[in-house]
Amino acid sequence: MSDEKTSSLTTAFGIPVGDDQNSLTAGERGPVLIQDVHLLEKLGHFNRERIPERVVHAKGAGAGGYFEVTADVTKYTKAKFLSEIGKRTEVFARFSTVGGEKGSADAARDPRGFAIKFYTEDGNHDLTGNNTPVFFIRDPLKFPDFIHTQKRNPATNCKDPNMFWDFLSLTPESIHQVTILFSDRGTPATFRNMNGYSSHTYKWYNDKGEYFWVQYHFKTDQGTKTLTREEAEKLSGTDPDHAVRDLYDAIEKGDYPSWTLEMQIMTPEQAEEYRFDILDITKVWPHGDFPTIKIGKMVLNRNPTNYFAEVEQSAFSPGNLVPGIDISPDKMLQARVFSYHDSHVHRLGPNYHQIPVNAPKNAPETSYQRDGFMRIDANGGSGPNYWPNSFGGPAPDPDALKPPFEVSGKADRTPYVHSNDDFVQAGNLYRDVMDDQARENLVGNIISHLSGAQKRIQLRQTALFFKADPDYGGRVADGLGLDVKEIERLANMTQTERVKATEK
Ligand code: NDP
Ligand code: HEM
Repeated sequence: MSDEKTSSLTTAFGIPVGDDQNSLTAGERGPVLIQDVHLLEKLGHFNRERIPERVVHAKGAGAGGYFEVTADVTKYTKAKFLSEIGKRTEVFARFSTVGGEKGSADAARDPRGFAIKFYTEDGNHDLTGNNTPVFFIRDPLKFPDFIHTQKRNPATNCKDPNMFWDFLSLTPESIHQVTILFSDRGTPATFRNMNGYSSHTYKWYNDKGEYFWVQYHFKTDQGTKTLTREEAEKLSGTDPDHAVRDLYDAIEKGDYPSWTLEMQIMTPEQAEEYRFDILDITKVWPHGDFPTIKIGKMVLNRNPTNYFAEVEQSAFSPGNLVPGIDISPDKMLQARVFSYHDSHVHRLGPNYHQIPVNAPKNAPETSYQRDGFMRIDANGGSGPNYWPNSFGGPAPDPDALKPPFEVSGKADRTPYVHSNDDFVQAGNLYRDVMDDQARENLVGNIISHLSGAQKRIQLRQTALFFKADPDYGGRVADGLGLDVKEIERLANMTQTERVKATEK
């Protein structure tokens, strides 16, 4: 807290307050008079201090800083903030856990949000990613249900391993993300010690209108550090805010955290021929096929002076994309373009873009949107409030047009056609990337959590681990006291047969 000297106390309307310790009463012992406007204003405002917390990612920390370009990417994108080596753009970043409430523990096993707002000369560009390169589901219709299972049981209001594993075991495409979540990467040591990924495929296009599919990887320069289950459980009890404080303290003492931005870039032709659908967010693009290219660095060097003003009120949207960058047809990403703005309007009101942390500070808004609750600027003054007009109002700029793209096909509700194998990459991670210790921790973390679910759910989920890798499934089965032969039998069934075989 700052110890700067302030001027006299006033009401919210600037009227001097003479006494802030004793309410105005009739006689020494009361009752209190309704004409104590200061008291009424103070109590009334206090009653309205809480705003809805984010429906997901409610607990988090944020900081300001800059992004600096370190490689020439102009052949891939015309985004102005990426146009020159050495160019710096101001950013605000927010890191978060997902399922817990605003007061929940930072050491929870959960993905971590990794959201960045770039204040560019073409308006605000948001990248709203996670610390995992994949996700649990690949169709947005499943998102609200999935999140319900990660939150509280409707009857007990407690976290519920049955809900958690029931949904995941009925959603086999989740296996890759589940494997990452239950590895020690599911409990990063701090926000500074984790990577950030777009997870989704985005589109970059250049000034010739040629386009490329891309994935963003923000690699931590502090090194990846994780907590073991035992360390995470202890920290959750003893220091539930450890990661929020860690970020603040590091920046306060000048130990500025940074991340190197590496890109994976693919041509449309490569995407056509690739062995799986590159829009499927449950899969990574293997580095062997698409090596990353270092293109920039993000440094966080400014703590917010007020948490509510900057961090709580910050609002990121995957739909905020500057010219040179566009969304891909990924169904999840398409739905997120709707969901975030809608959530912000609910949480912060229709003029949330005027809150300083969200305002496009390097490209002031010149739109025809007017009025609404909490409009706090001049509201367009006396200028025209419609388009087209011949009174000098702002005109659309054809340079900002996104290149056209082909769409075809029958409108239908179609699952991902090329994603018939959901188990390969989870298996690769287990076999080829993890070492013995990482595998042991993964299996132990799963057993500790899955043991709380009903046996039929354990059987169904363990069969999915077995399908990723027999050793993986076998070790989980052993730890849960399940019959490995039965797991193997279930693993060899189709998902429909497996679900039938593990009904009540
Ligand atoms: P590589 O060996 O080239 O890359 C493996 C990656 O795995 C590294 O980036 C490493 O991150 C990361 N990693 C290490 N441990 C874990 C863990 N417990 N959870 C998540 N990631 C971890 O292999 P491939 O590119 O062929 O991918 C093999 C598997 O690695 C994938 O199936 C996927 O599960 C995982 N992976 C792949 C990524 C990609 O974009 N290709 C990105 C992240 C993970 P670090 O550099 O920090 O050590
Ligand atoms: C926050 C919806 C998938 C990353 C949110 C919020 C909503 C939401 C409504 C709260 C926004 C707010 O009030 O500020 C969805 C939907 C998804 C989805 C509908 C799928 C269809 C994802 C994925 C990622 C992600 C795949 C990562 C790649 C984040 C992050 C935040 C967030 C980082 C917090 C942003 C912040 O710090 O304010 N999501 N989400 N979400 N989501 Fe998602």
